[in-house]
Amino acid sequence: MDPLFIDLLRLGVLPDQGRFLDLGCGQAVLAAWLLAAEEHHVAGHWPAGWAPPPRVQSLQALELMPRDVARAQRAFANEPRVRVEQGDICHAAFEPVDVITIFDVLHYFPFEAQDGVLRRMRAALGHGGLLVARVGDAAAGWRFELSRRVDQAVTLVRGHGLSPMYCRPAADWADALRTLGFQVQVVRTQGGPPFANTMLIARAPAAPEIR
Ligand SMILES: C[S@@+](CC[C@H](N)C(=O)[O-])C[C@H]1O[C@@H](n2cnc3c(N)ncnc32)[C@H](O)[C@@H]1O
Repeated sequence: MDPLFIDLLRLGVLPDQGRFLDLGCGQAVLAAWLLAAEEHHVAGHWPAGWAPPPRVQSLQALELMPRDVARAQRAFANEPRVRVEQGDICHAAFEPVDVITIFDVLHYFPFEAQDGVLRRMRAALGHGGLLVARVGDAAAGWRFELSRRVDQAVTLVRGHGLSPMYCRPAADWADALRTLGFQVQVVRTQGGPPFANTMLIARAPAAPEIR
């Protein structure tokens, strides 16, 4: 029901194929979504006018909470393309990939750690790589306040305690990514609850032409 997952496919954000890294994957909903999309497309059940879904060559998913990791690992036990691992995004090494996704996660890290994660994501994406992040836009007034409170309630229920949140306006996130050389598109999530959710679509520059 989350409009982000629909937008990813409806807007044709993702490449035709690639190696994916999903950071802070939770129960690996994105992996399930992409593989299900692929199956539907192959079976000929696909919305007219939408680009085909990406062919997932591999998907590595990283998550802090062991319970979510265990559940996701059970779900993908027979899917060799998906590898779900327990780890901390702030310290784990990122392998070279074509696409990195990080949805509703960055605001859990202090600002300095966020900048470190942005830099390491840029380094893991080669020429033309794609980063798709979802953040809460701290400049979005009451919608941001609503998002923040719901997030805190969910975080508490999911066993993280009352953790502080480190939020930035979407424009500041976009600037931080541009500073690293990404071309950035900011897409406000339409539909669903009136949260301040914003998708950042950031493309690393293509390889320079050799003459
Ligand atoms: C709001 S949930 C989003 C889950 C998933 N991205 C999705 O869209 O369904 C945020 C997730 O980030 C994870 N997380 C937070 N800090 C993390 C860290 N330092 N390393 C790995 N995962 C982390 C949480 O455990 C939680 O599962």
